[in-house]
Amino acid sequence: MSLYEVIIRDWTTRAPSDVAPLAAGRLEQADVIFLPHLRFEIAPDETRLFDPAILGPAKNASFDPQRGRLGRTTLEGADAERLRALMGRFSDGAMRVVEALCPSYAARIQRGRASFRPAEIAGRASTWRKDDTRLHVDSFPATPSGGQRILRLFTNVNPEGRPRAWRVGDDFEAVARRFAPRLRMPLPGSGRLLALLRMTKSARTPYDALMLQLHDRMKADAEFQSRSPQDAIDFPAGTTWLAFTDQVSHAAMSGQYQLEQTFLLPVDAMNQPERSPLRVLERIKGRRLA
Ligand code: SIN
Ligand code: FE
Repeated sequence: MSLYEVIIRDWTTRAPSDVAPLAAGRLEQADVIFLPHLRFEIAPDETRLFDPAILGPAKNASFDPQRGRLGRTTLEGADAERLRALMGRFSDGAMRVVEALCPSYAARIQRGRASFRPAEIAGRASTWRKDDTRLHVDSFPATPSGGQRILRLFTNVNPEGRPRAWRVGDDFEAVARRFAPRLRMPLPGSGRLLALLRMTKSARTPYDALMLQLHDRMKADAEFQSRSPQDAIDFPAGTTWLAFTDQVSHAAMSGQYQLEQTFLLPVDAMNQPERSPLRVLERIKGRRLA
């Protein structure tokens, strides 16, 4: 893993012309794109939203850019409207940055949910499966990706200037090979049954089932957590970064106040589809998975 630094200063600008041809390739080889000068500005009347109490029992507040709708927050009235406006502004800006950095993705990439993460990560009580201080790759239990890539843009909006401290782990193929003997193919038909029972939004493909197992096996393995190759990275407040989090093993160790936008990209829209987790797992398992 390495950080690929790009100088972009605002959320409407075009990327430097020498960067655009490279950025997608860097992401696909599991680099993290780091935008040290891309700060997301918070207006004075928005600082009142910076309070973990707005979450109720949830881990993050969510925003659906397609419907313009907030979720997982106790905010109502004018404050809910303020957060909705903030997240809409962020989500639109995140889309423009991805289109500027990765023009070859622009026609095919889709925006998923955005989130606001006002809770401190360190010491947050949680089950091991939900504990994002353990290295993992992202996979969504209720919304199967069907093999599509999960690209996420994060921006640290901590008002006290505190960093977001991550660990970034080993290459996907190395991790997948380590755990592959313990990844079981799902029972035929089980993925469709989950959708019929409305436990998932669409049928869970064998790929999604294996990725969920990989996520869990990684988090449950204390030896892997402490001894596998990994780097600590502190993302300062006022910085932004992007990664394919279905491929880049990551863990968030500490930090508070972050915005995140999820994008989904079809595998065949990549420059090098063979680098996708879908194709890597298919090579390891010797069969089609989605
Ligand atoms: C994660 O995606 O695992 C957490 C990232 C973060 O909240 O910084
Ligand atoms: Fe994650």
